[in-house]
Amino acid sequence: LGAALRLTDLWCKRDDLTDVAAGGNKLRKLEFLLADARSRGADAVVTYGKLQSNHARCTAAAAARCGLRCTIIYQEEEPKSWSGNLALAALLGAETRFIGSADAMATNAHVRRVVEEYAAAGLFAYPIPEGGGDAVGALGFVYAAAEIEVQCRSSSDGRPPDVIVIAAGSGGSLAGLALGLRRYLPETRLLAISVGPSSEAIAKRAAQIANAAARLAAWDQRFTPRDFSVLTDWVGDGYGLTTPPGEAALLLAARSEGLLLDPVYTSKAMAAVSTLAARGEFKATSRVVFWHTGGTPGLFANGLWLDQVSRKDLWSISRGKEV
Ligand SMILES: Cc1ncc(COP(=O)(O)O)c(C=O)c1O
Repeated sequence: LGAALRLTDLWCKRDDLTDVAAGGNKLRKLEFLLADARSRGADAVVTYGKLQSNHARCTAAAAARCGLRCTIIYQEEEPKSWSGNLALAALLGAETRFIGSADAMATNAHVRRVVEEYAAAGLFAYPIPEGGGDAVGALGFVYAAAEIEVQCRSSSDGRPPDVIVIAAGSGGSLAGLALGLRRYLPETRLLAISVGPSSEAIAKRAAQIANAAARLAAWDQRFTPRDFSVLTDWVGDGYGLTTPPGEAALLLAARSEGLLLDPVYTSKAMAAVSTLAARGEFKATSRVVFWHTGGTPGLFANGLWLDQVSRKDLWSISRGKEV
């Protein structure tokens, strides 16, 4: 993959291989969120998202691992057939509800209702925000920065990454990583690739979460939105909608490296790496870390799309030629 992108020192941080039910970045947040839930005596967790939410599937899996019940509120109508993350969340034992709307007030009201229903049965349900994107969840990514610092230090030349590229949605992973990098890898540039929201929205939210996480960790660190570099050029028509550059990046990673990306997050982030490398924004010898945030079940969410994409003849790009 590095040869195809003309990057001689391309690394991939494999959060798609984190150790619960098809993995993903969300498990780093859930490690801390579920610890918090358990320390408060929770019997259950409740969270919400779209039908193909990786966060919802990971929450269902992590709750199962921790012996907690789990309710997931889907902000869409129930589909006729269940696939990808939705099917896996149910398979992993989550109770599923469909409210048909992403309205924040309606969602919060439904979360409160579920918490009350558990309470009426004598059980305490711990609510988890969208994408696990709060200060507690972000601590998981502070530790991720420490982890990658150790991994780089133990590489043959011990060099830190010049740049880390990561997909951003809620901005929680970005926030935790930015806070962790300040401490463990202050020279490393962090580049976020939006999968939907505006760069202002992501940067503002990431700054809020990073500041709250710094308070929790008792670190004297302050962030403003200007501390975050968020690029929106690879969103395409919107969140969850595939793009030609994303599809090309997906095929390139698969056919040059045997690496599966997902259609919603990592393929767009990899498309960004590809374009930025081609534009010379990274030096050919830069140590570039692509943070694979997971999401592989999303590949199986739309059979028709997968059918069409997998048949595409884009072998030329895996030989390093432009499409
Ligand atoms: C696979 C994948 N990558 C990246 C992200 C973005 O992470 P965050 O919400 O922390 O910005 C998500 C969030 O849903 C995700 O599921």
